[in-house]
Amino acid sequence: MSNESNILIKPARNISGSVRLPGDKSISHRYAMLGAIAEGATRLQNFSTGADCASTLGCLKALGVNWQRDGNSVTIEGRGPKLEASSDPLDCGNSGSTMRMLSGILAGQPFTSELIGDTSLSRRPMARIISPLQMMGARITAAENDRPPLRILGGNLKAIEYTMPVASAQVKSSLLFAGLFAAGETCIEEPVRTRDHGELALRAFGADVTIRDKHACIRGPQNLRAIEANIPGDLSSAAFFLCAAALFPESQLTISDLGMNPTRSYLLDLLTGMGLRISVTQIEEKHGELVGELQVHGAALRGATIASPHTEMLIDEIPVLAAIAPYTADGIEIRDATELRVKESDRLAAITSNLRAMGAQVEERPDGLRIPGNQRLQGGELDSFGDHRIAMAFAVAALRAEGETTIRGADSAVISYPEFFQVLERLARH
Ligand code: S3P
Repeated sequence: MSNESNILIKPARNISGSVRLPGDKSISHRYAMLGAIAEGATRLQNFSTGADCASTLGCLKALGVNWQRDGNSVTIEGRGPKLEASSDPLDCGNSGSTMRMLSGILAGQPFTSELIGDTSLSRRPMARIISPLQMMGARITAAENDRPPLRILGGNLKAIEYTMPVASAQVKSSLLFAGLFAAGETCIEEPVRTRDHGELALRAFGADVTIRDKHACIRGPQNLRAIEANIPGDLSSAAFFLCAAALFPESQLTISDLGMNPTRSYLLDLLTGMGLRISVTQIEEKHGELVGELQVHGAALRGATIASPHTEMLIDEIPVLAAIAPYTADGIEIRDATELRVKESDRLAAITSNLRAMGAQVEERPDGLRIPGNQRLQGGELDSFGDHRIAMAFAVAALRAEGETTIRGADSAVISYPEFFQVLERLARH
């Protein structure tokens, strides 16, 4: 490790050991938000340690929700469906999930809220929630091109039937949360099936939600009941270690208490298809979410083509899959991935830039990447582009490079996984 936010990664021989991941980011946001509007105290163990979920908790406090945090345990004193207006803007930090999903709840509150974010979030598209929430009756204004900050005057919502133009679980959850406050049945159809944590969380908190293929419907108004939950480990964080293990045939890794929701777990099928040996040694269900233990053994990796609907299922894992692609036998092609250009950074551009800085061949396309396999990469100076998943993905790529790699702005990992570099150092055998 060198100065403040730069990190030095040395080549490794393999990945060995056991790891338990901090709580899933998607589930932590949803349980915190629903806990806030439920009746009773919601007790959450293994809450996400990431800064994004802390942004959600910060916004909830500003909306009059009392909560206490003791390490990774969070207790939220539910207020029932009525929150309190905040005199200050609600700071969503870097978190698109906070802004988009909280907007659904604020659309049901009869007061005005302002939601702001950091430079990256202030560039991200919000039309995808603004227009359906307006159809439900919320009054929303935004900056130019429907970018944040957002001002939302909620209340008096009506149910809608809505087909989302973009596949987004954040938007789906936002609209289902708004549906809790709307008279009648709100039905959302998605173009491609996305993660269903919102639907499962609503059910866990006692709401009646109908899920059928690509449709989810909720009847409002409904009240929620507090829950006690141990949040499963985050599969998208585990992806960095799975891909790191996949780089070395001698790797042996155990991952316990891992969230394996079928709308998220395609990564395991993909890596297995590429040659990684993964066995599931335990599995159980908690509040509708599958949680398991994995034993992982390295192997020589083949390549893959990733296209819709799998691109959407792997949306957060593509940076690390792209980062290991040059080391596979046949390379990886990624299609239908324009959404990656409007994440915390333009991830297609960030991946291309870092792979080229390591001497790799890569073809950047408007909606994807083609990365040939069987390449030798050199360590070098890379950039996180202020994006947590880019920082962690290239720490993994650096493990098999020739020479050392510096990643500038590596502290952006705090957004989803502050402990990442320490855990990687513990698991990497040099
Ligand atoms: C998330 C959905 C995805 C994902 C994000 C978390 C969620 O975003 O990239 O990290 O918790 O619903 P989109 O809804 O924009 O696809």
